[in-house]
Amino acid sequence: MRSYRLEGAGGTECLVMRDEAQPEPKPHEIVVRVRATSLNRRDTMILNGSYPLPPRQGVIPLSDGAGEVVAVGDAVTRFAVGDRVTGSYFARWIDGRIHAGLIDQLGCTLDGMLAEYAVLDERWAVHLPEHLDWCEAATLTCAGLTAWNAVTGAGIPKPGQWVLVIGSGGVSLFALQFAKLLGCRVVAVTSRAEKADRLQALGADLVVSSADTPEWGATVREQTGGIDLVVETGGPATFAQSLMASTLYGHIVLLTLQDAKGGSIQLPAALYQRSLATISRLFVGNRTNLEAMLRAVSQHRLKPVIDKVFAFAEAVDAYRYFQQGDVFGKVVIDGA
Ligand SMILES: NC(=O)c1ccc[n+]([C@@H]2O[C@H](COP(=O)([O-])OP(=O)(O)OC[C@H]3O[C@@H](n4cnc5c(N)ncnc54)[C@H](OP(=O)(O)O)[C@@H]3O)[C@@H](O)[C@H]2O)c1
Repeated sequence: MRSYRLEGAGGTECLVMRDEAQPEPKPHEIVVRVRATSLNRRDTMILNGSYPLPPRQGVIPLSDGAGEVVAVGDAVTRFAVGDRVTGSYFARWIDGRIHAGLIDQLGCTLDGMLAEYAVLDERWAVHLPEHLDWCEAATLTCAGLTAWNAVTGAGIPKPGQWVLVIGSGGVSLFALQFAKLLGCRVVAVTSRAEKADRLQALGADLVVSSADTPEWGATVREQTGGIDLVVETGGPATFAQSLMASTLYGHIVLLTLQDAKGGSIQLPAALYQRSLATISRLFVGNRTNLEAMLRAVSQHRLKPVIDKVFAFAEAVDAYRYFQQGDVFGKVVIDGA
């Protein structure tokens, strides 16, 4: 089988294609014929050596992938040959709170999905909704679940309340879609005004161009009466504006603390002094959260937004395209 492995951490030249023996499952394992994978910001950080969790040398990258079970170990009970599955980001984190013993991640400390066949412990995988094709099904493990937990995890927002999403990456567009499922109103902030139509088509009630209105926080607050929940993916570039846009008791889920140049979030004290907003964090989510999200995706026949699909042999081009930053939704690698 063909697989990619990360040999070093110095950019795309460390992503090397290998020819390997087709894997056999151990008693509790399944072998998955991977049909598609997708990229997340963390995959470029792992590639470039800036991810906080050091990857295993020679690891197969990518947490997100979808495929069909082609072999099961003798003791497997959760899956059968032919099942459509995807993996869980923190593979060992099934439920409850995370702790140091559960931090192993697919595509980082554990072999991930960028291979023709992936081997997963049966506890690390979940069944996929029927209505998704392989490329769509390969987008949910990281960005989808992060957005789901950001929007549903804090007990807010309620129908009719305002959610703010930033940019057009995977997390933001999933957050927009999930917020609309919950009956919320959504403001989308984009640095590229030409994306406004597509954001509106996905359900955004208000689109603000940060290029035209760099101090967009006050404008958003004025036009909405204050944001109830911010899914903060912009980091240092947007955090102060997000705080400004928030209602007095707003909630900001802070997903990004640093930018690519090493700049960090600064808490604007004068602004926060006048605010009772809660600032919280999350790390993607566990398998139980993933299963809950997939039930909602299935029930509402939600379709993930895909920007571009690359062939398996073009994985390096996919990384390069994703890294340049101007995307609308997910960048997918077709493994068929
Ligand atoms: N804590 C967690 O569990 C967790 C999980 C997943 C992701 N994350 C973090 O969440 C962030 C989003 O990840 P992602 O994979 O969805 O997306 P991404 O690929 O980092 O986002 C790309 C989008 O961000 C927007 N953007 C780029 N530079 C910007 C800037 N200076 N100001 C405002 N927007 C900017 C662009 O949208 P426009 O062209 O529309 O502006 C671009 O399309 C990343 O930083 C990632 O590390 C955290």
